Amino acid sequence: MRIVIIALLSCLFFSCKYNQEDPFPSPVTGDGSGSSITYTNFAKSVIDNNCVICHAPNITSPQSPYLTTYNEVKQQADNGRIQARCIDGPSFMPPSGKMSQPIIDTLQLWINQGALQ
Ligand code: HEC
Repeated sequence: MRIVIIALLSCLFFSCKYNQEDPFPSPVTGDGSGSSITYTNFAKSVIDNNCVICHAPNITSPQSPYLTTYNEVKQQADNGRIQARCIDGPSFMPPSGKMSQPIIDTLQLWINQGALQ
């Protein structure tokens, strides 16, 4: 019986740990520690949380450019539009106002590192 309880508990423990989502990818990556900022570990969550509510095809008022895949976002990073609309201004996205400075700073690093996937 005790074994079963321990097994169940460790199951719970590990599944919690496994499912735990990083609330915000640490801006410390890219500080020379060796790890890169990527679409997967950073930019996707920022775009998903701040942009796809408008910049996606399957919504009531779809707004181009679509920002739902890496290729779409990468294109807007490479052509300077994310730089212009999220970092430099003066006309910022999202329309409700600039994102927080740590996000903007990390976005800048991501672009500077080549907007990696
Ligand atoms: C509330 C809806 C909304 C949200 C959220 C939003 N946008 Fe936009 N976006 C628009 C609208 C409307 C336009 C067209 C008018 C304009 O350019 O300001 C636009 C235009 C753009 C353009 C094309 C115009 C250009 O300058 O090249 C880009 C790129 C863009 N948005 C990026 C983003 C990014 C990146 C985010 C998230 C950080 C974002 N938007 C969030 C509504 C939104």
